[in-house]
Amino acid sequence: MKQDTAILNRDNLYAEEEIDSKDILRILEKYARSRGGLVAILEEIQSKYGYLPETALRTVSERTGRSLVDIYGVAAFYRFFSLKPKGKHLACVCLGTACHVRGAQEVVEEFEQQLGITAGQTTEDREFTLETVNCLGACALGPVVVIDGHYFSKVERSKVKQLLDQGRKGLDKLDIEKDERIFPVDVRCPHCNQSFKDETFIIDGYPSLKANVAMDHKQGWIRMSSLYGSYNVCTEHEIPEDMIVSFICPHCDSEIPGTSTCSECEAPMMPMPVDGGGRIKICTRRGCKNRMLDLV
Ligand code: FES
Repeated sequence: MKQDTAILNRDNLYAEEEIDSKDILRILEKYARSRGGLVAILEEIQSKYGYLPETALRTVSERTGRSLVDIYGVAAFYRFFSLKPKGKHLACVCLGTACHVRGAQEVVEEFEQQLGITAGQTTEDREFTLETVNCLGACALGPVVVIDGHYFSKVERSKVKQLLDQGRKGLDKLDIEKDERIFPVDVRCPHCNQSFKDETFIIDGYPSLKANVAMDHKQGWIRMSSLYGSYNVCTEHEIPEDMIVSFICPHCDSEIPGTSTCSECEAPMMPMPVDGGGRIKICTRRGCKNRMLDLV
């Protein structure tokens, strides 16, 4: 997975003894009727509790008939999943090559010093969890730090304390009132008309748009910023620069075909209806920022 920053609902930090098996059964029932698999079930449990409590995984095992070892195997495979409760705030520093050469390691060290923990740990007061990732897809802006879903670019060691203070106070949403280039859109699948909005995964301070992408016989999720004007995305698998991907609806599994050609790079442009009327077209080539919004 490329990024695992903002998916947790951090208001819900439950201890093992607070897990209500009825909630888990509700989640299992929901996915028994849909085509969602184990990963989707675990995603929803983690979204509710902030991590994957053992009690919940035991219930999943009993009800689905899958061995606990299997379930732990899946949870351990995806870096996004956490078996331990995380902090109220998540600070995530990119250590990908582009960020690393611009001093990201020093930024990590400053976070470690300020918080008194090492990357991967949570402070004793459960206020902060510190994590590192390999690329956040904003390499030109490195070093990149994400705190509770808010991106900070060109971060220097000297800025770390200020970022932590901001995180503790609570980061405001982007000011879409003042910045006319940025506004939220909710898009839908052109086949089944279900919304791509994902309230459990916040990017830029707003619910992201979730779809699946296929490339090289591999499929995984992509979460895109719902702010038109922002190109922030998180992907389960790294998508190489310049690669053209196919978008697949996470609800009906239909591929969303390109209907026109990108004027910048000639890759297919993927059209999706926008809530409230009109449609947005997105270039399917990684790295190409061509988008067209026709509101009617
Ligand atoms: S290497 Fe840090 S955003 Fe890509």
